[in-house]
Amino acid sequence: MVARVIPVEPFDLVIFGATGDLARRKILPGLYRRFRDGQMPDDARIIGAARGRMDSATYRREVAALLNELVPPARRDAQSLRAFCRRIEYVALDAAGDGGWPQLAALLREDVVRAFYFSVAPALFGELAARLHEHGIANADSRVVVEKPFGHDQESARALNATLARHFDEAQIYRIDHYLGKETVQNLMAVRFANTLFEPLWNARFVDNVQITVAETVGVEGRGAYYDGAGAMRDMMQNHLMQLLCLIAMEPPFRFEPDAVRDEKLKVIRALDPVDGRDVVRGQYRAGQGLAGYAEDAGCGASDTETFVALKVQISNWRWKGTPFYLRTGKRLSARASEIAVTFRAPPHSIFGESERWQENVLVIRLQPDEGMKLHVMIKEPGPGGMRLKDVPLDMSFAEALGEEGADIPDAYERLIMDVIRGNQTLFMRGDEVEAAWAWTDPVIAGWAAAGPPHGYGAGSAGPEDAERLLHRDGRRWREIAP
Ligand code: BG6
Repeated sequence: MVARVIPVEPFDLVIFGATGDLARRKILPGLYRRFRDGQMPDDARIIGAARGRMDSATYRREVAALLNELVPPARRDAQSLRAFCRRIEYVALDAAGDGGWPQLAALLREDVVRAFYFSVAPALFGELAARLHEHGIANADSRVVVEKPFGHDQESARALNATLARHFDEAQIYRIDHYLGKETVQNLMAVRFANTLFEPLWNARFVDNVQITVAETVGVEGRGAYYDGAGAMRDMMQNHLMQLLCLIAMEPPFRFEPDAVRDEKLKVIRALDPVDGRDVVRGQYRAGQGLAGYAEDAGCGASDTETFVALKVQISNWRWKGTPFYLRTGKRLSARASEIAVTFRAPPHSIFGESERWQENVLVIRLQPDEGMKLHVMIKEPGPGGMRLKDVPLDMSFAEALGEEGADIPDAYERLIMDVIRGNQTLFMRGDEVEAAWAWTDPVIAGWAAAGPPHGYGAGSAGPEDAERLLHRDGRRWREIAP
């Protein structure tokens, strides 16, 4: 059975930065897929806005060419492409001046949802928000979508929040962390809170440790200018991995609704212990396996920016005190593999005596690629010869288990943009959450000044050897990074 698609309300979505990378790679292809699936109503409109001068017909042709290039043939057809492009307009705008704003105002309709996607550098958020109000374009029901990086520390995040708050209510602001739009990330909540099986064991009494890994094979891909000022801690850890940690560790929200969920996530962030310098390992990839090193990739010369970071995190609350969470993320690693592994403690007593084959129960939630879940359990090895234990995975690939329904899962951006139109903030970060995440991150980064440069690791490897030290010390090992 194919998933049911419920069309959203009619809307005007204005994309500021409409010719930029994010709009081209993610927003426009995502909107096209929602359109083709019947989720965008016929009278929805997309208005591209950017500095460059061109008319709507030229922009439509650019979008059509882009979709032909980026959307796989099986997921596009000429008729729906034409119909989608008819929904598109373009306005040349001057963010700092008045040029183009009256034209934009004239295009927008009164009786539909108005959403403004700020797909631009954060330095422009204030200008855009102010212009939208000066020209009477934003109203009390309008929504504004902003992207990461949401600041580079707590102070700048606070300043951005204050800038947006001058013009919009918190209920109108949608801060995107695209990890929250990923199907399996939402599945974490379903697995935890729609089953009785796991929740009674989901605490320090039964969970020995949790590992969260987001491993990438890509390097910095022409984003050196941004990345060199960010590094893995700001680019991935402060947001994506932090969100995963929150969903794994939070208390059950009383309902699956925006503030109930976000309140619980915030409590986790606030309960995080400061990270001890000995519990952090930074790395930077060097040339290897025919791949260039970071300095060459980023085009920034010698640099101490980390492309890998591993941390041991402790949560000081009743549920988790005593269970370490090990987090790691890195670029140019041996495989693209993101997973959360929850390892359970040993049974209190073994009736089988010592067994070298005994392994802990591990629940592995695979985020990408090949989304699914695996539960490692002990069974008896079949056959005669006595009682020998064996570790077998109960393995569920979502694509296989859900058939057609699981094969065509919407991309994170598609889902999140439709949530903006529906007015559902559950999967978006609240301002206080972002600030709290920076408050935890800032001292970790500040500690690096005294810690020396990052450890080198070969491109295509499993990361710096030193990362192993974090777990060896505790008598544990990282799980293998495997595709
Ligand atoms: C982005 C980071 O937020 O997430 C990138 O800026 C990273 O550096 C990307 O590559 C990873 O996203 P995904 O969806 O490919 O796991």
